Amino acid sequence: MDFTEQTATAAVRDSIAPGTEPRLTELFVGLVDHLHAYVREVRPTVAEWAVAVDFLTAVGQKCDDTRQEFVLLSDVLGISMLVETINGQEVGTESTVLGPFHMTESPRRASGDSIDLLEGGRDCVVELRVLDPDGAPLPGAVVDIWQCSADGFYDVQQPDVQPPGNGRGLFEADDDGHVWFRTVVPSHYPIPVDGPVGGLLGSLGRHPYRPAHIHVIATTEGHRELITHLFVADSEHIDSDAVFAVKKSLIVDFDELDDPRAAQRYGVDVPFRRARYDIVLNPLSAGEAA
Ligand code: BEZ
Ligand code: FE
Repeated sequence: MDFTEQTATAAVRDSIAPGTEPRLTELFVGLVDHLHAYVREVRPTVAEWAVAVDFLTAVGQKCDDTRQEFVLLSDVLGISMLVETINGQEVGTESTVLGPFHMTESPRRASGDSIDLLEGGRDCVVELRVLDPDGAPLPGAVVDIWQCSADGFYDVQQPDVQPPGNGRGLFEADDDGHVWFRTVVPSHYPIPVDGPVGGLLGSLGRHPYRPAHIHVIATTEGHRELITHLFVADSEHIDSDAVFAVKKSLIVDFDELDDPRAAQRYGVDVPFRRARYDIVLNPLSAGEAA
């Protein structure tokens, strides 16, 4: 068959060998269909397509063991959040993106500990309860927390300034499903802009900022793992996250408290801020548990 604008998509589809794994075929054919439709509609010149290829090449070349520029690209295109959203569940706390700053080994800490090893920012208390959808506590649930400093940097971005494990903690829920810790109110911060994705944002006149947030992974046996954030309600950029990860249900008031007795109970100074949030985990379905 002659290769024309009209026959191009069928030609690629027909090149797939019979017997190819059906889901792989579906994913590949869908991608080719949409990419061809894009080319037919937007009609890039050969030079424009070369720019696109050069851009993707630079994205790949920026990746290494600690930097994943393709994930960052997926994030700023809204694709990471779209995939999260279509795979989300109707019940339970909503999920959001993992982001690049998670360490598999957050330091184990006890409830009430401070995750702030710098002791510079404003005192903040975070109280969480881990519950099932009926409101019953999930004792023993593990809650992995990480956040940036009051200046907007994660420990791994500032090895000369922050001790490893600053802003991180692995907690276990008590019999009431309760976990609490002391910290600082995190700052909004820019995603890494020293690579091609930063260049793309600049060309599009887009800012690189994420609103202030605390990352959470909550797990317990028999329940679906939850990867999410708690967003600071009055943060800058709460309505324009560079990676589109804000969901209304994840925006939390960090109340200003001036009560010396409460401060004493938590071991912080007045005034301090306090956030309270219930994390609801979904039981695994029969298929997922198998
Ligand atoms: C983060 O929240 O750590 C993050 C998420 C996506 C891109 C960059 C950073
Ligand atoms: Fe983050």
